[in-house]
Amino acid sequence: MLDTVVIIGAGGHGRVVLDIMSAVGRYQPTGFLDADITRHGQLVCGIPILGSVNLLPRLRRQGILGAIVAIGDNRSRMSCAQLVRQAGMELINVIHPSAVLSATAKIGVNVCIAPGVIVGTDAVIGDSVLLNTGSIVDHECVIQEGVHIAPGAILAGRVTVETGAFVAMGAKVLPCLKVGAGAVVGAGAVVREDVAAEMTVVGVPARLIRRGSSS
Ligand SMILES: CC(C)(COP(=O)(O)OP(=O)(O)OC[C@H]1O[C@@H](n2cnc3c(N)ncnc32)[C@H](O)[C@@H]1OP(=O)(O)O)[C@@H](O)C(=O)NCCC(=O)NCCS
Repeated sequence: MLDTVVIIGAGGHGRVVLDIMSAVGRYQPTGFLDADITRHGQLVCGIPILGSVNLLPRLRRQGILGAIVAIGDNRSRMSCAQLVRQAGMELINVIHPSAVLSATAKIGVNVCIAPGVIVGTDAVIGDSVLLNTGSIVDHECVIQEGVHIAPGAILAGRVTVETGAFVAMGAKVLPCLKVGAGAVVGAGAVVREDVAAEMTVVGVPARLIRRGSSS
């Protein structure tokens, strides 16, 4: 029998998570939860939006034991994961079958790994991390809680990406560098030196455009 779970977030990323879940075949999504009350009762890909996250304890009592937070915003993904824990539910992972994960990689919970992702030897992927389509996280990288690595981004070996940071589409980070907590690396950037916490960098080579991220 499939494990019945709920998906938190019925937006674009929620659809992606649902799609990966179908490809995996292990979970039966019973519904979405979403903050937008105007959407409650609607169907997304045939699955109902049941209500808001305040339904979690009731769903738990009804026997739904698992959940995943499918929200693109890093802070919201982390804070909703906390609500799932408080409701006594298990945070699950969705990992697309086409992703290639080293057997030595360590993967947290509430992790979404999209199609075509590669995770290298001894990489550490924290809780509530989103590795988006076709991204590469090479050997011994450390990806802390709530990070989003966007489609096509490449992290060379031994890169550390700290809590809540966002590496945008197609960006590249050179070996052994650190992207600080809450930092943003813009689409297509090539990062050649450490990025301090909460900074936004763009371009080739990456240059600082903002102190304090906008994500
Ligand atoms: C980095 C980013 C977040 C900055 O967004 P923003 O704060 O709205 O920045 P602005 O659009 O105000 O641009 C500020 C300056 O940086 C430049 N800039 C912004 N993003 C850039 C990028 N990716 N590469 C090069 N330059 C960029 C702008 O041209 C502008 O330059 P100017 O001041 O000389 O005119 C955004 O541009 C970006 O790259 N987003 C990634 C989206 C993505 O990958 N989403 C994933 C979805 S799954």
